[in-house]
Amino acid sequence: MSDILVSKHEGVLALSINRPAKMNALTRAMYSELATGLNEAAGDLGIRCVVISSEGDHFTAGNDIKDFMENPPTDEDSEVAAFLGALLNFPKPLLAAVKGNAVGVGTTMLLHCDVVVASPTANFSMPFTSLGLVPEAGSSYLFPQLVGYQRAAKIFFTGDAFGADEAREMGLVASIAPDSFAEAMKIAQQIAKQPPQAIINTKALLKARHHDSVAAVMRAEFQLFSMALQSEEAMEAFMNFMAKRGSK
Ligand code: COA
Repeated sequence: MSDILVSKHEGVLALSINRPAKMNALTRAMYSELATGLNEAAGDLGIRCVVISSEGDHFTAGNDIKDFMENPPTDEDSEVAAFLGALLNFPKPLLAAVKGNAVGVGTTMLLHCDVVVASPTANFSMPFTSLGLVPEAGSSYLFPQLVGYQRAAKIFFTGDAFGADEAREMGLVASIAPDSFAEAMKIAQQIAKQPPQAIINTKALLKARHHDSVAAVMRAEFQLFSMALQSEEAMEAFMNFMAKRGSK
């Protein structure tokens, strides 16, 4: 079975991260499948919006650390870059349903979503600096814009996690529901019944002001991130993670 499950429900495409044994950590192949899902949905008249969710108890533990070590995504044609580009440019409503841990890109991808529903178990973190890395996915621009400079700086510098209530208060999530997937699908199906061109135009208007700035920041982040991935700080953090977990 694939690590990304794809299903269609009355105009809504559901993409579910399905690697629960590894806390849904994302490999290059999974980024590629997510990018393909988004790009195909963008061009498919029958799909009105997309919901990203997960199998098991967690959303995702972020990028697979073993993959980071073995295949660092250092070029702009990498699968991660393709996924982030697809997120930035996705023209239709993008929803996410988050439960359990949402680490790294598990949190930063939400900054590109139009509506995020969290379950009460959701726990968000962006431990880039703890790993010797820098923020990605435009988060160094989008997160301070959302929560204010100092709050964003504190979270990026400390790597501190935060829960569903704080995420809702920040505006990172729209609502909290015990079954976040069911709630996100309900909202998606409501959106799917709306006139599609009006929805696409509305999203374009909502995103227009920041699109080019986010794209430029993403390119700068990618350069720093690529260098950081090969740094001693990152290697030491990755080795520590692997040693503690005994990952094969
Ligand atoms: N990459 C690869 N494997 C990962 C992973 C990741 N990012 N996160 C979790 N896993 C794997 C673990 O190795 C473990 O598998 P194993 O038993 O075969 O070794 C399994 O998923 C469960 O994770 P575990 O660490 O045992 O769960 P926990 O509840 O003790 O800790 C976390 C949860 C999220 C705190 C911890 O897994 C973690 O810190 N993960 C790394 C998160 C991260 O730094 N991501 C990158 C952000 S850029």
